[in-house]
Order: sequence, then structure tokens, then C-alpha cells
Amino acid sequence: EEVRVFCPATIANISCGFDVLGVALDSVGDEMVVRKTKETGIRITKLEGQDLPLETNKNVAGVAGLALLEKAEYTGGFEIEIYKKIKAGSGIGSSAASSTGAVWAMNHLLGNPFSKTELVQFAMEGERLASGVAHADNVAPALFGAFTLVRSYTPLDIVPIKNPSELYATVIHPQIEVKTSDSRKILKTTISLENGIKQWGNVGGLVAGLFMEDYDLIGRSLEDHIIEPIRSILIPGFNSIKEETIKSGALGCGISGSGPSIFTFSKGEETAQKVAEAMKKIYKNIGIDFDIHVSKIN
Ligand code: HSE
Repeated sequence: EEVRVFCPATIANISCGFDVLGVALDSVGDEMVVRKTKETGIRITKLEGQDLPLETNKNVAGVAGLALLEKAEYTGGFEIEIYKKIKAGSGIGSSAASSTGAVWAMNHLLGNPFSKTELVQFAMEGERLASGVAHADNVAPALFGAFTLVRSYTPLDIVPIKNPSELYATVIHPQIEVKTSDSRKILKTTISLENGIKQWGNVGGLVAGLFMEDYDLIGRSLEDHIIEPIRSILIPGFNSIKEETIKSGALGCGISGSGPSIFTFSKGEETAQKVAEAMKKIYKNIGIDFDIHVSKIN
């Protein structure tokens, strides 16, 4: 018995929501085949597309799967094949795609004994292995779809957010690798009250804007006064991309997850494509190789 799953890429943080907001991109992602085995434990039998460890306890899909297996009333095991399309260290949730694909597929093969929130909890163990911190802002949208808010970590409380019907994401990945663990180390551990006020104003504004399909409010809320000023230094051309994409009609622009990918949101596909052209032009001018995707948020 086996299942083939699509594991979506995700944009975490969405500017103002560090570690709490994320959105799934259903046109970019990996594939995975998971099958039941009589033998207990988890084996990664194939891994194509990226140079990542096959050992179960060094692979995020293996670790997330083991977390599920520990809680499952099941004496057998699983075999996993991973076909990676998302590059590790690109900032669009590569580790989250593998962690969530594994736990979703296993739960499915076992007849769905676990809730989505429980699956998020298991997949977070994969994130702990990848980045040193069990953040849920990529795995939650990968499992729930569209936008999610991690309202609380303890207890884990995931809030699915309604997505506006004409929202598109344009994501560009300059071909450099930034490890989430490294880009977390450079962050400060305290924030000023002044920045806190701006940030939670924007989180509320963004969530309200998404529910109300108020594109202007979404755009006004896509600001980050805490993380972006520090991390953007690691991303070539960040300020020019931000400036030019806004001029081209994007609602907002920020760092995708821990970078180096940069995301923008736009209303309508035409604008999203125009924004993509503006992004490409900048990286062509400064001589940086890139991947770029336009995705409708579904
Ligand atoms: N919230 C995490 C971070 C996302 O920004 O470090 C990493 O994908």
C-alpha cells in the first residue's frame, strides 16, 4: 500500500509575522512516495534532486516520521522516496515540504488517526532538525493549505485564514544558499516596544485584510520593522527589488522565510507577471542567477 503526495513550498513570516504567519504555494513543490512496510521504523530509499542525508535520523522527513510513529498504534514501518524540486536553503520551506509530506502520507496510510494540528506538531520535529528551532510557520500552511496563523505554540493553536480570490505571489530565488540556522543567529532576541506596536498592528491588519479581501489593507500591512532590516543585508539587490516591484504595482514585498528568496503579493495575475519582469530585470542587471515563480494563492 503506497501513496504519492505533492509537498508544497511555503512563504513563512509574510513580513510582519515572524514565526507565526505562512502561506502555501500550490504550484511549487516536491513529490514523495510513501509505502507501508512490515518491518518497523522508517527508511528513506530514494532521494533525488538534492544532496541531502538518507539516514532516517539525519533527514527531516525521517525525523518527522519517527515522531508520528512513536505516537501511532502501528507495529509496521514506512519506506519513503523523495523527489526534491525545492532547493535547500532557498527560503521557501524546503525542509517543511519534506517533513509535512512524510507525516501527511503516513497518517493517510494509517486511516487518518491524527488531526492536522497533531501532524504539524510531528512535522515541527523536522524543522527542529533543519534549523535548530521547531518553528511551525512553514509546516502549518503546508498541511492546512493557503494562509495560516500560529496563534500559540504552547499549546499549539493553528488558525487557518481565508485567502482572497485574486491574490498572487511572485517569488524570486537568487542562487545562493542561506541556512535558516545561520540567519536566525544574527537576529536580536529582544525588540523595542515601539517596534512591537508597529509589528502587531500589521499582523492584525494583514489577517483582517485577508479575511475582508481588502487588498490595500493587505499591502499596508506588509511591513517588517524587526527582522527585515537585519536579514536583508544578506540578500543581493533586496532594496532595489522592493522599490521596483512596488512601482510595478505589487501590494508589498519582503523576505520569504529566512531568505534569500524574496516574495511579493499582487492583485491579479497580470500585475504579478509585471512584477516578475521587474524582479528579473534587476537580477539580470547585477548579474545574479535566479529562479522565479508566479503562483495563485488557492
Ligand atoms: N520563521 C522562520 C524564520 C522561517 O524566519 O527563521 C524559516 O523558514
